[in-house]
Amino acid sequence: MFDLKNKVAVVTGASRGIGKSIAETFASAGAIVICVSRSEDALINLVESLKASGGNAHYRTCDISDGEAFTSMVKSIVTDFGQLDILINNAGITQDTLLMRMSDEQWTQVLDINLKGAFFGIKAVMRPMMKKRWGRIINISSIVGITGNAGQANYAASKAGLIGLTKSVAKEVASRGITVNCIAPGFIKTDMTDELSDQVKEKILKDIPIGRMGDGSDIASAVLFLASEEASFITGQTIVIDGGQIIS
Ligand code: NAI
Repeated sequence: MFDLKNKVAVVTGASRGIGKSIAETFASAGAIVICVSRSEDALINLVESLKASGGNAHYRTCDISDGEAFTSMVKSIVTDFGQLDILINNAGITQDTLLMRMSDEQWTQVLDINLKGAFFGIKAVMRPMMKKRWGRIINISSIVGITGNAGQANYAASKAGLIGLTKSVAKEVASRGITVNCIAPGFIKTDMTDELSDQVKEKILKDIPIGRMGDGSDIASAVLFLASEEASFITGQTIVIDGGQIIS
């Protein structure tokens, strides 16, 4: 139903997890997908498998917390493909510990990748999107950015920051045909959540009314909708996808 034919889409953190699911979904919807991450091997495998299923996929390696690298990567994509229509700021990390034990480095690393990386990406895509008077920017936040979470002050701050960033930029660019939205996933099965102990996983599962963890595809479907023409009247919003975990 949602067609991304001839749209050039950049997905950060595409080598695995939620980003990989988004890249797969976009490729199936006809987009020209540029998969971005730091690890080349994983990207090569992903692009090969997307192409094998008939997708139009490419990759770029980039550390998104490096502003110059992110900006020049965007420029090279615009040069090579003639346009850049969709940016998915998905790459993110955790460095969990209680605030009293949190080092400056743990704080800065998480904020630099999760929040500043998105700032770099959004800034870089503004010009090509404004030129076309069409664009979709989707930032992957987290329910933790809404509720907070003990042991994740750095991560929660970065994810709450993404929601504020989204609302502000949405207001700045709404008149130019560009929408900016957030997705706030709950507990999604990926390498990131695999790190949690079975005890923690069971505890979280008890708090999810739908009674299961999410899959990458649960997130990718909503991202596809927000990236589509059909979502052109939605901007500055955060869609929570969590199996009901934070229904209040
Ligand atoms: P993951 O750890 O499986 O994948 C993260 C991806 O980001 C990887 O491809 C990694 O290479 C890439 N990445 C990390 N730092 C990077 C950097 N500096 N430059 C370029 N790429 C970088 O994580 P997962 O679970 O797929 O999460 C994706 C996003 O969804 C993250 O922003 C995460 O915070 C968010 N999220 C995940 C949830 C979950 O339950 N898995 C829940 C809520 C939000």
